[in-house]
Amino acid sequence: MTQDELKKKAAEAALEYVKGVTLLGIGTGSTVNHFIELLADLKGDIEGTVSSSEGSTKRLKELGIPVLDLNAAGELEIYVDGADEVNPHFQMVKGGGGALTREKIIAGASRKFLCIADESKYVPVLGKFPLPVEVIPMARSYVAREMVKLGGQPQWRENYVTDNGNHILDVHNLEILDPPALERTINNIPGVVTVGIFALRPADIVLLGSPDGIRALK
Ligand code: A5P
Repeated sequence: MTQDELKKKAAEAALEYVKGVTLLGIGTGSTVNHFIELLADLKGDIEGTVSSSEGSTKRLKELGIPVLDLNAAGELEIYVDGADEVNPHFQMVKGGGGALTREKIIAGASRKFLCIADESKYVPVLGKFPLPVEVIPMARSYVAREMVKLGGQPQWRENYVTDNGNHILDVHNLEILDPPALERTINNIPGVVTVGIFALRPADIVLLGSPDGIRALK
């Protein structure tokens, strides 16, 4: 089975968790794109979604699924999103697709976080995947120097601007042994908008697509 087929399996399994849900958050990425396609069949039940990126918004609207502003929606029942890495504590690295800031906001505003991924994303220790950090453009070099002090090797994601008009540094070679502590430390650097460590608000359920079926971790 290809990685994409495993992503689709995880997306299919997520449908069970959103049956009867009227208000939900939608993440970003290739796994979520499968989920959005499948969600179209349930759209009769859905009063609204809150989307984490312009890309997901476009796909939702094309399928006739209503998209709301988070300010109007209030608390969401469930947030469905992928991950670049997830560990046994359900802490994640996210932001490979650049949508980390809106993803973290929606995760915070949701009662449950359902993470869907192919099994290759499940790792014992976070950090092999370069850690995305969204920064205010004028702070880019300064934040990069701070990342070096933390032991990382930052790389500017050139020719890329986030939906919020900011830049991204992808920080290589970090072994993230204490994800909540590093999340706090990087969040506190002036000019950092969002760090792609999702540990202070981890996932509640993880669905991993594997060739043998779905591994549901709760
Ligand atoms: C988007 O910014 C990311 O956080 C995605 O959730 C993550 O990159 C997973 O993407 P795939 O589903 O494409 O692997």
